[in-house]
Amino acid sequence: MTRKSKKIYFDYAATTPVDPRVIKVMLPYLGKKFGNTMSIHSFGQDAKIALEKSREQVADLIGAKVNEIIFTSSATESNNLALKGVAFANKNKGKHIIISQIEHPCIIESSNWLEKQGFKITRLPVDKYGLVSPLDVKKAIRKDTILVSIMHANNEIGTIEPIEKIGKICRQKKVYFHTDAAQSFGKIPIDVNKMNIDLLAASSHKMYGPKGAACLFVREGVKIEPLLHGGGQEMGLRGSTVNVPAIVGFARACEICEKEMEKESRRLTKLGNKLIKNVLKIENSHLNGHPTKRLFNNANFWFSFIEGESLIIQLDLLGIAVSTGSACSSMKLEPSSVLLAIGLKPQEAHGSLRISLGRWTKEKDIDYFLKVLPKIIKKLREISPYGK
Ligand SMILES: Cc1ncc(COP(=O)(O)O)c(C=O)c1O
Repeated sequence: MTRKSKKIYFDYAATTPVDPRVIKVMLPYLGKKFGNTMSIHSFGQDAKIALEKSREQVADLIGAKVNEIIFTSSATESNNLALKGVAFANKNKGKHIIISQIEHPCIIESSNWLEKQGFKITRLPVDKYGLVSPLDVKKAIRKDTILVSIMHANNEIGTIEPIEKIGKICRQKKVYFHTDAAQSFGKIPIDVNKMNIDLLAASSHKMYGPKGAACLFVREGVKIEPLLHGGGQEMGLRGSTVNVPAIVGFARACEICEKEMEKESRRLTKLGNKLIKNVLKIENSHLNGHPTKRLFNNANFWFSFIEGESLIIQLDLLGIAVSTGSACSSMKLEPSSVLLAIGLKPQEAHGSLRISLGRWTKEKDIDYFLKVLPKIIKKLREISPYGK
C-alpha cells in the first residue's frame, strides 16, 4: 500500500475548506473595506451595508426574518447564548431545561454549568440509532420547563432527529425549542417556521465558509439575555466589533449551499451509499446511527477487535484523513458518549471510525479508501490485543 500523492480529506464534519468563491467575496473586507459597522462615516456604512446584506442571505436559507439572525463567532457561542440567555431571561417562569444525551459538548457543558447555577436539567436517552423520541420530550415537559434543546443532526453518527415533531410539541406546550443545526445547516432543508423552531445555531466553517463566523436564529418575541455586554451590536444581544469579512464569507457560503443543495445531496448520497454498502462487506463491521435517517455525508462504523486510533493512524500514513468522533472529543481517551448512549460497549466505541464526505470528495477517493481499508483492518486484527 502506497501513500497517495494527493491527500484525501474525509473529515468534513470537523471542518471544511473555504470555497474559493467565498474567499473571493471576503477579500475586499480584509483590505480596503475594513470599516467598523458602528462608525458613521462611509467606511463604517460600507461595512454596515455588507453586514445587513449578509444577514438577509443567512436568514433566507432557513426562512427567518432578517432581524432574527444574530451573528456570533461559532456554534459553540451560539449554543451557549441560546441556553444561558434563555435560562436567565426566563428564570422567573421556571428553571427546567430538557436536552438529549447525545448533544454536542457545548450544549452538555452549558447545561452542566446551568445546573450548578440552580437550573434543573433532564437529559433524554436515545434509541440504538441515536433517535430522541418526541413522546419522551412530551412526557418530560413540566410546568417549570422553559426550554427544550435537541440537535438537528448528530455530529458523530449523523442521525437526523425528528425536530419537526418535537417543535410542534414544544409549541403546543408553550416551551421554547432550540436546535443545534451545526451539522445540517446548508446540507438539508430547514424551515424554522414549518419546524416550529424558536432558536437555532449554525456555524460557517462546517459549510465551506471561514472559521470565526456563525449565527443564532432567535425568533421574534423570544426572551433572551445577552452573554456579551458591550456597544449594542447585534441588536444588543452580542456586544463586540462585528467580524465583517468572516460574516460576508458565511453569507456567501449560505447562498452557494442553498443553490447547490439538491444536486450536492444527490451526488454525496450516491457516494455515501457506495461507501457504506462496501465497508459493511468487511467481516465484523457495523454501521453506527440510523440506516436512512442520517446525514448523507456521514458514515460511522465500528469494527470488532480494532482500536479506532490505530486505524486513523494507518489511514493517515496513506494520506487519508478520517476521525473517531467529534473533533472536540477525539483528543480525550474516554469512549464517545454518543456511542455509549446508543448502546455500544466502551471497547466497541473505541473501535469506531467517522468518515464525512463533502464538496471535493470524488468517487475515486471512495474507491481508494475501499481498496486499502480491508487490508489495514486485517493487519490490525492480526496484532490486536482484543482477541481475534
Ligand atoms: C453539532 C455541533 N454543534 C456545535 C459544534 C461547535 O461548532 P463550532 O466549531 O462552530 O464552535 C459542532 C462542531 O463540531 C457540532 O458538530
